[in-house]
Amino acid sequence: MSGFPIVRPRRLRMTPALRSLAAETAIKKEKLIQPYFAVEGSKQVQEISTLPGIYRYSVDELVKQVEKDLKSGIKNHILFGLPEAKDERASGVSGKKSLIFRALSTLKKQFGDEVVLIPDLCLCAYTSHGHCGLLSSGGEILNDETNAVLARAAVSYAEAGADIIAPSDMMDGRVLAIRNALDAAGKKNTPIMSYSVKYASAFYGPFREAAHSAPASGDRKSHQMDIRNAREAVLEAYQDAAEGADILMVKPAMPYLDVIAELKKQMVLPLAAYQVSGEYAALAFAARAGAADLRAVALESLTAITRAGAEIILSYFTRQLHAEKWM
Ligand code: PBG
Repeated sequence: MSGFPIVRPRRLRMTPALRSLAAETAIKKEKLIQPYFAVEGSKQVQEISTLPGIYRYSVDELVKQVEKDLKSGIKNHILFGLPEAKDERASGVSGKKSLIFRALSTLKKQFGDEVVLIPDLCLCAYTSHGHCGLLSSGGEILNDETNAVLARAAVSYAEAGADIIAPSDMMDGRVLAIRNALDAAGKKNTPIMSYSVKYASAFYGPFREAAHSAPASGDRKSHQMDIRNAREAVLEAYQDAAEGADILMVKPAMPYLDVIAELKKQMVLPLAAYQVSGEYAALAFAARAGAADLRAVALESLTAITRAGAEIILSYFTRQLHAEKWM
């Protein structure tokens, strides 16, 4: 036996080429999804104070932005509709006249199969009270009644040209309700990416500002998951898989790497993670204050989410990563 030490992990760290050869994890650019916010009107490109570098677009401007993004290699687009008119029944969530329907059909007509269009499906941006479901007279979020509205909206999105439906509401049984409705409408090949494991997180703050979707009173704790629970995440994931989900998602991402890793072990469906608005804002504002190198912390966070087991990542960094050739 020769002298100390025989094992020298540093040997494989001596040059960039050796480090790349030995690296276990790589972010895959083609598996990133860029979020977009659509608003009414025309020629609208609105800054969002809580999300530096992210904008709200009217449909005409949205088309231009998606075209630019496509040129830099972004194919996957998740869309949030932010209509002006809201009511108690979330009427604006579906139908040919709805903002999201017009956004989807315009983009699909323009870009065809070059783009993967993923409408987020939830009632919170469409209800006057800002809750993710219909309310009873006593203020309870009604699960099964909400599922019926979501299922109708899913069909409407599929007819408008959605490539994947992404329910983010966290009602029980909504994946099955949506699957059944899609199948009955002849959309049996439209996949569902379920926000299966969505926590009642404080990291959605900047998004709610962007979407004006904060609940007028109360919170989302009666449907989104308790942040203290990890085993329950497995129950949610199994449930969605059994109901016909095609992709499972964990949200937020960075504070829940343990949950991503556990689902990677237990589940066999493709696994996505959403690096949410508060995660993005924390890094973007830290960089603005001179406390972080934006490119480095963005790539490190995306690498960590990948290393934990996420194959698909929804991230507000997608555009910069592509446009500025961060990798
Ligand atoms: C809609 C929805 C939210 C997010 C995605 N879909 C907000 C919420 O649940 O309050 C958050 C995304 C983000 O923070 O980037 N329900």
